[in-house]
Parts: sequence; C-alpha cells; structure tokens
Amino acid sequence: MPFTIETPRLILRQWRDADLDAWAEMSADPRVMEFFPQLYDRARSVKTLARMQAELERDGYGMWAAEIKATGRFAGVIGIEDIPYDMPFTPTREVGWRLAFDAWGHGYATEGAQASLDFAFEKLGWDEVVAITTAINVRSQRVMQRLGMVRDMAGDFDHPRIEEGSPLRRHVLYRVRRERA
Ligand SMILES: CC(C)(COP(=O)(O)OP(=O)(O)OC[C@H]1O[C@@H](n2cnc3c(N)ncnc32)[C@H](O)[C@@H]1OP(=O)(O)O)[C@@H](O)C(=O)NCCC(=O)NCCS
Repeated sequence: MPFTIETPRLILRQWRDADLDAWAEMSADPRVMEFFPQLYDRARSVKTLARMQAELERDGYGMWAAEIKATGRFAGVIGIEDIPYDMPFTPTREVGWRLAFDAWGHGYATEGAQASLDFAFEKLGWDEVVAITTAINVRSQRVMQRLGMVRDMAGDFDHPRIEEGSPLRRHVLYRVRRERA
C-alpha cells in the first residue's frame, strides 16, 4: 500500500493513469530535460509511469507524483528510491525530483524532498540518503544545498549510463545522514 505524504502545499501520492499526459508533456519539455541525455517519447513515459506505480505499490515509498494542494495540478515527481544500478557509492538510496517548468521557482522541490527525507529517516529508519546530478545542473544542486545535503568532494564520478564524451557524464554526489537532517 503506497504511503502518501502531505506537506504544507503538496501531496506526494501514488500515480494515477490520469497523470500520464502531464508526466509525458513534462518529460518531453526541453527546458525540463536540459540535463538528461534524451527527451522521453510517449512510450517511455508510459513505461516509467508504470514502473513508478509498481514500485510504490510494492515498497510503499518511491518516486511519488507531486500534486499542488491548492489547485490539484500535477507539479512533477519527487521521492526516494534504492539506486537501481551500480555506481562507485552504491548500494545506497537517493532522493530525487523533476518538476514541470511552470512549477519551478516556488520551493516545491525543496518542500517535497525535505518531507521525503523526513519520511526516509523517521519512518523507514534509513541512515543516509544521497543525491546525484550532472555537474552542470546547478539548479538541482541548489535544492540539495537547501536540504542541508553536503557535497562529497571525493565523490565525483562518471555516470555509467551516459556516453563517454558527453558534457552530462560527470556527476556530483551529495549526502545527508539521519542525524544531520
Ligand atoms: C531541479 C528543480 C526541481 C529545481 O526546481 P526549483 O523550483 O528551482 O527548486 P525549489 O523547489 O527548491 O525552489 C527554489 C526556488 O523557488 C523560490 N521560491 C519562491 N517561493 C518560495 C517558497 N515559498 N519557498 C521556498 N522557495 C521559494 C526560491 O527563491 C528559489 O528560486 P531561485 O533558485 O530562483 O532562487 C527544477 O529545476 C527541475 O525540475 N529541473 C529539471 C529536472 C532536473 O534537473 N531534475 C534533477 C535531476 S538530478
């Protein structure tokens, strides 16, 4: 049974099939996807939505759909998950976010991610959560910093799923432990 998290302005909840259009539109928006290797086509959005749904159903936590309480509008995705591939610092868990362009600049990512971290530490008993992003995604790193996460200066790495030579390949690693959150 998926958990739902409520913050002052957001609900983080299980995905509905009705979210698909907004999710697909956001994941095909070049402004939102500037730091990803590819825009998602419709088929990939269908597949990723189904995967997030299934993981929330299975684990209770995961990458939640973020809805703005005041309007009922879809804001994006925010959540926590086990990192699903091998990297120099895995196995571990991460916090992540992707918001629709019109939901930027309101503090929603930080608000939802903070609640996700609180949930991870208090309800799930996790000891540490990391966040990763490409080195040139400064906006995402600002969210990490607002969350009190600290960059592991020895943790820079090349993302195994991004091709060599790509300016997106170099990644940074931020960490936060339960006692610091
Ligand atoms: C990364 C991303 C989620 C950050 O979104 P964001 O809106 O900048 O981040 P926050 O939700 O923390 O909002 C902070 C901004 O809201 C502003 N803000 C306005 N009202 C606010 C409020 N009530 N509370 C807090 N901040 C507020 C802050 O001043 C800040 O703006 P600034 O950066 O221009 O100073 C967004 O840019 C995004 O989805 N990018 C594309 C996907 C992506 O890169 N994901 C990460 C991959 S690792």
